Amino acid sequence: MKIKSNSAFLLSRIFVAVFLSILIASCTATKPWHSDEYENWENRMPERDSQLEYQLFLIGDTGEPVLDGEDPVLVLLEEKLLEAGNNSSIVFLGDNIYSDGLEPEPLEAKEIAERKLTKTLSSMHDYGGRAYFVAGNHDWYSNFEGLQLQEEFINEYDPVENLSFHPRAGCPGPVEVVLNDRLVLALIDSEWFLAEETKEYATQQGCDIQTADESMTELRRLAFEHKDKTMVIAVHHPFFSNGRHGGYFTAKQHIFPLTEINDKFWLPLPGLGSLYVLLRNLGVSDEDFGGSMNKTYRQQVLDAVNDHPNVITAAGHDHNLQFFDEEGAHHIVSGSGSKTSKARKGKEAGFVYSNKGFSIIKFYNNGSVWAEYVTPKEPYADDNPIFRVQLQAADGS
Ligand SMILES: [Fe+2]
Repeated sequence: MKIKSNSAFLLSRIFVAVFLSILIASCTATKPWHSDEYENWENRMPERDSQLEYQLFLIGDTGEPVLDGEDPVLVLLEEKLLEAGNNSSIVFLGDNIYSDGLEPEPLEAKEIAERKLTKTLSSMHDYGGRAYFVAGNHDWYSNFEGLQLQEEFINEYDPVENLSFHPRAGCPGPVEVVLNDRLVLALIDSEWFLAEETKEYATQQGCDIQTADESMTELRRLAFEHKDKTMVIAVHHPFFSNGRHGGYFTAKQHIFPLTEINDKFWLPLPGLGSLYVLLRNLGVSDEDFGGSMNKTYRQQVLDAVNDHPNVITAAGHDHNLQFFDEEGAHHIVSGSGSKTSKARKGKEAGFVYSNKGFSIIKFYNNGSVWAEYVTPKEPYADDNPIFRVQLQAADGS
């Protein structure tokens, strides 16, 4: 009798697991997906007589590149950067070194971390543009000391000039970078806003901006001063996301939650897995949208730039490619520089692809601005760009 009830229980759990897997898998954007609004995006392109003037590359989460052999993302990035030359810039959107930033010790860990960062930096050896790096949560995981080491390593990396880490380690930002008369960057350390222990360094380091309030006041000032330009807010943590940090978990997390700790722990624990997902969504971590500090950070930044007509936010953190047109601004998630995680189709998104790649914002001489997404992953790599969208219309149109 007992054996029978145990079997029934096991069967019901298997049924739930299979049902959950099918349901969740059908939502995941494993292929490049776009909403109905962007039907025929392939046929929408910059005006024939317009000239490309400037490009801004956006790539996040590059911290785990292939060390032995070629890294497909970096190969594609290097190719595009060389093509673009000095009429372009790139922002690395944090999590520049997995998994604990630039660990000061032990020496072996430090050397591996330096090798990972060097691999990324070497993709810019012949690049004529400028590169900016912001911090992500993983860059803080060796505390302030590790973050400062990373900052020094990037700023002093000899083979390439024009590399810089902003804001300075321990400072929240925003750091204003006027790239030309049409484009300004506001570089922010978003992890600084999401953890209590980061705050003390702003005073300790004598940062120009030392509190969240001062940071938002400065952001509001930048938005006002540069109303006539496109303003790109480059951060690590996104404002909109259909990925894990935005609350989307796959069957893997529901059924095999221990794989979150170690990729080899494939022990089926469906009930516990769903509880784990529920807690993440309820805000157990401020790295996720559910976290109260995360909610405050997103709301404060969006409120500060609310009146600016041409704001684009660029972020990583979720390891996929996404596009949103929300709250009067455009939002790019470009966090699959070296890792991938699943993101769902639909909701408010215009485009989603759960795979590696990066995005490029293109400025044309007639005033129009476009965003493109590219991937090195087969079978879509030959179709690059895998998505294109107009962010701003030509002047006078
Ligand atoms: Fe992250």
